[in-house]
Amino acid sequence: MSQTTDGKVRPRHAGRQDWSTWPQYNAAASGFAGYWYPVTWSSHVTGKPSAFTICGEKLALIRDNGTVYALHDRCPHRGVPLSLGEQQFPGTLSCPYHGWTYNLPDGRLCAVITDGPGSPICGKVSVRTYPVEERLGLVWVYIAIGDEEPHPIDEQLPAELVSNPFVLGGRIQPRTGNWRFACENGFDEGHAKYLHRTALWRLFKPMPAWNITSIVAKGRWIYRVQDEVHWDADFPGVGRWSNKRWWKANPPDTTFNIGNTGAAKKVDPTIEAQQFPGFASLSMPGVLRIAYPKFIHYEFYVPVDADNHRYVGMMVNFTKGWHTARFYAKYLGVIRWLFHGQFSGQDAWMVDVTDAPPEKLYRPDISLTAWRNLAEQETTERRASADAKDSHS
Ligand code: FES
Ligand SMILES: [Fe+2]
Repeated sequence: MSQTTDGKVRPRHAGRQDWSTWPQYNAAASGFAGYWYPVTWSSHVTGKPSAFTICGEKLALIRDNGTVYALHDRCPHRGVPLSLGEQQFPGTLSCPYHGWTYNLPDGRLCAVITDGPGSPICGKVSVRTYPVEERLGLVWVYIAIGDEEPHPIDEQLPAELVSNPFVLGGRIQPRTGNWRFACENGFDEGHAKYLHRTALWRLFKPMPAWNITSIVAKGRWIYRVQDEVHWDADFPGVGRWSNKRWWKANPPDTTFNIGNTGAAKKVDPTIEAQQFPGFASLSMPGVLRIAYPKFIHYEFYVPVDADNHRYVGMMVNFTKGWHTARFYAKYLGVIRWLFHGQFSGQDAWMVDVTDAPPEKLYRPDISLTAWRNLAEQETTERRASADAKDSHS
């Protein structure tokens, strides 16, 4: 990878075969600790505990008196999942087996129903608890590096979602395949024009045949910037290829960087104000943002374990008042099925069957190598600052 004077990163090596260039990324099959992860919709967490695995950690989530708590989903007594238990006293959760009862805020064993009020083990055992926040209608859990304190969640959310009114529609799906394949697929420059050419979501909109792309870093994000967009191509000795069809709109004459099918006449003012250098951007720990003229689509690739992830897809419209009704109608009627359904299903299919490394990368894979570099760099910086804090305490 080489940084040129115009600030753009262009690939230098092609045909790289393994991930040894990115040792921390290579080791992060179950995700990176040190981040907030969205787990499920807030409305799905109730007084009846539910089980989730995030970054290889088993969690029991429960809502008590309005607040969501996350406990390690394993009773220290005999290893039974606490998510199978139920609440016997306010502010606590009891294991289903012998009634060991844990205090929700700190995980301390506060009563043992089957050993009487004087149980000597009481107060001597705890289960691990995880920091929890609720944002964007989702429950987020912090997976810590060691016993570090979490950073404020708003520092990690896309900034435009912290300070603007909006409405959102979304879909959460457990999916097979490693989270890194999902993340790489999301930001992958090469695939959409080809893989998604049959998606109904794109039925009336042309897609390019190929692009020349560079990657630009800005804040915590990297952006795909389209330098050239080609709608047809003559492949020497093979033939002509195009995504254009008579029933699709004509492609624009100019290169564009908001939306992926053409330049927009009017861009939503909140989206415009972000001054995104490109329509597709990615940040740690695996958050994709696709800026369309009127809405932004986000994907969070939440690591479950080495072979599974949770797909959290979200469509956001920066609107308020009666416009919100129009967005929900459009989302429930069209977007949810065509985009979060079929289109995104094509991605899920590829993520499930990807098998790398080994790999041989090609020009458009600058999107993948730039992302791996970002992950490597941010992880190295965070580890260094955590070590520095440790040595001062
Ligand atoms: S295993 Fe949980 S109380 Fe015995
Ligand atoms: Fe895709």
